[in-house]
Amino acid sequence: MNEIFDAIKESAIKIKYLIETGDTGKSEQENSTGDTQLKLDIQSDIIIEEIFAKVKSIKAIVSEEQENIVNLHADGEYLIAYDPLDGSSLVDVNLSVGSIFGIYKNEFNAQNIIASVYVVFGPRVEMVITTDDVKMYRLLNGEFKFIQDIKLNEKGKLNAPGSTQNCWAPFHKQLIDDIFNDGYRLRYSGGMVPDLHQILLKGGGLFSYPGTSDRPKGKLRQLFEVFPFALTYEKAGGGAVDGFKRVLEVPTTHIHDTTPCFFGSKEEINRVLKVYSENG
Ligand code: AHG
Ligand code: MN
Ligand code: MN
Ligand code: MN
Repeated sequence: MNEIFDAIKESAIKIKYLIETGDTGKSEQENSTGDTQLKLDIQSDIIIEEIFAKVKSIKAIVSEEQENIVNLHADGEYLIAYDPLDGSSLVDVNLSVGSIFGIYKNEFNAQNIIASVYVVFGPRVEMVITTDDVKMYRLLNGEFKFIQDIKLNEKGKLNAPGSTQNCWAPFHKQLIDDIFNDGYRLRYSGGMVPDLHQILLKGGGLFSYPGTSDRPKGKLRQLFEVFPFALTYEKAGGGAVDGFKRVLEVPTTHIHDTTPCFFGSKEEINRVLKVYSENG
């Protein structure tokens, strides 16, 4: 898998340059989930696909910005689902964005995810690789250097409540209010990569993107947003659930399927499971 990690590093260096120098405007197209694509979404997708096309161990890819699976090398062992530019609506106001990669074997579904990688493009570029453990690297003088292992505490301090608040179920609103009343602090940028990265590095907390009255299955997409981070949170000693069960047990029927999701340290995840089982 090292050649895949190297390919992701190569793409990160190119995407960093694209973000710094590219046109932040919109294109005239929509992707399969109905997002208007920025020119940067399309260009970062092309960068990644071109780099992955050279890696013989990659059998097929799925991208947020492409309707269908793209077959690459018939003899390849790995399948990769990726979000080339996460949080792209924040790029025009210069907030942090990211890229997310889920590495699968056999089939694109939660049972088959074996590794994940995300890249944060902030004041610095950082990359977090999850295999059996979770390791963070930082881009220094053109190379990614190992910085630290990531482990979550049993209980955290941050609360990152996503989705449209006036569409929350009353019990969900109560859960979020109760968490704030217990002293948790609001930390939410609207980009899942920096929001989840912050919780991982600051010891823990809760990130939620629930199902709502306008979007019962949430917004975040399983294969290239939710499952990669679910693996990271579990391997870091926390959890990731859809309210009722681990998201790594949620079935996938379509490559662009979404799911409600909660990521956090053990204590916050148990709290979500309790409230949802009593109300959902
Ligand atoms: P993307 O830019 O890849 O389409 O993903 C954006 C996602 C995620 O980063 C974030 O947590 C969420 O959308 C926020 O969405 P809303 O602001 O629409 O709630
Ligand atoms: Mn999008
Ligand atoms: Mn995204
Ligand atoms: Mn995206």
